Amino acid sequence: MLYRACKIERSAMPRIVTATKDTIRDAAALLKAGEIVVLPTETVYGLGADARDDDAVLKIFRAKNRPNFNPLIVHVSNKQQAATYVEMNEVASRLTDKFWPGPLTLILPLKNGAGISQHVTAGLNTLAVRVPAHKIMRQLMFEADMPIAAPSANNSGEPSATTPAHAAKSLGEAAPFILAAGACDVGLESTILDLTGDMPTILRPGATTLEDLEPYLENVTYDIAPKDKEKVKSPGQLLKHYAPSIPVRLNAVDVEEGEALLAFGSIKFMGIKTGGHAKDMNIDSFRNLSEEADLEAAAKNLFMMLRDLDQPNHKGIAVMNIPEAGIGIAINERLERASKS
Ligand code: TXA
Ligand code: MG
Repeated sequence: MLYRACKIERSAMPRIVTATKDTIRDAAALLKAGEIVVLPTETVYGLGADARDDDAVLKIFRAKNRPNFNPLIVHVSNKQQAATYVEMNEVASRLTDKFWPGPLTLILPLKNGAGISQHVTAGLNTLAVRVPAHKIMRQLMFEADMPIAAPSANNSGEPSATTPAHAAKSLGEAAPFILAAGACDVGLESTILDLTGDMPTILRPGATTLEDLEPYLENVTYDIAPKDKEKVKSPGQLLKHYAPSIPVRLNAVDVEEGEALLAFGSIKFMGIKTGGHAKDMNIDSFRNLSEEADLEAAAKNLFMMLRDLDQPNHKGIAVMNIPEAGIGIAINERLERASKS
């Protein structure tokens, strides 16, 4: 099995391999051999490696051009496995019982001698952990039997990949093996909740919303604005993220000449500034996140459609207003970052 996997690893172009029992084993063998693998999760595709192996983890940073000060999330199979790497407290235990497996990452104190590579934590004494819900990922974790460090499977600064093709396009030859399982269900990265401070703090909004968390916490707050290096809790907040290569204009009520349109809900009253209606726009310049104005559907489509519209023939992307409620908060946070130049 290892031989088969190593042969795959030597190919120069990214190999998109449909997930089957055999190819999941191949992916696990690659991880065990210290290689990196693109893997599916319910949120976005990840670029995984053995979290205990310094060399393997460094391959992730190189493949993504990721700055070494930006730590990685470690994916584990269950709460018990998480507890071998982090100090669980009562709040964490309550939350994991309710929300794992699922799109919630917890920041907790790293256990002494846990064996996690220092490159994963970027030298911090805390660790980000999550238990993914994706069936294929769960099988892979079972086969590989290791903590898997995995950031999103995109070149640093680009939108996260939510399909195998987008992971291949973004990482190119840097990702030799892509375990493919279709488009990700959630489409946005996990919610990150920091439990190491005085108050539970959402560092990145996601599909597990404030409303979901509130019943299980006495207090919870947000800390998601990009800020100075001294004050930053989640190093990812420092970086320009999820950014297409052309300008993104938010809360658009009409379309300017040359712009593409990313719509949400009905476009009946949406016009083009120089005349005409958005509904008559060329298919290459128009995507609707959800005609039914369904926020979950919009989250699933967001990165995929931003990538579709990110074409040099467009002078920018006009994005219609997204309600600031539920997962809409996470969508707006990603769009806000995408719009910063
Ligand atoms: O849904 C997800 O979370 C996906 C899938 C693959 O699981 N992963 C993902 O990883 O989005 P990444 O590396 O793209 O984003 C992880 C974020 C970064 O902004 C990083 O700074 C933050 O988590 N992070 C990691 N460890 C941290 C820590 N100890 N303290 C604070 N923030 C941390
Ligand atoms: Mg990322």
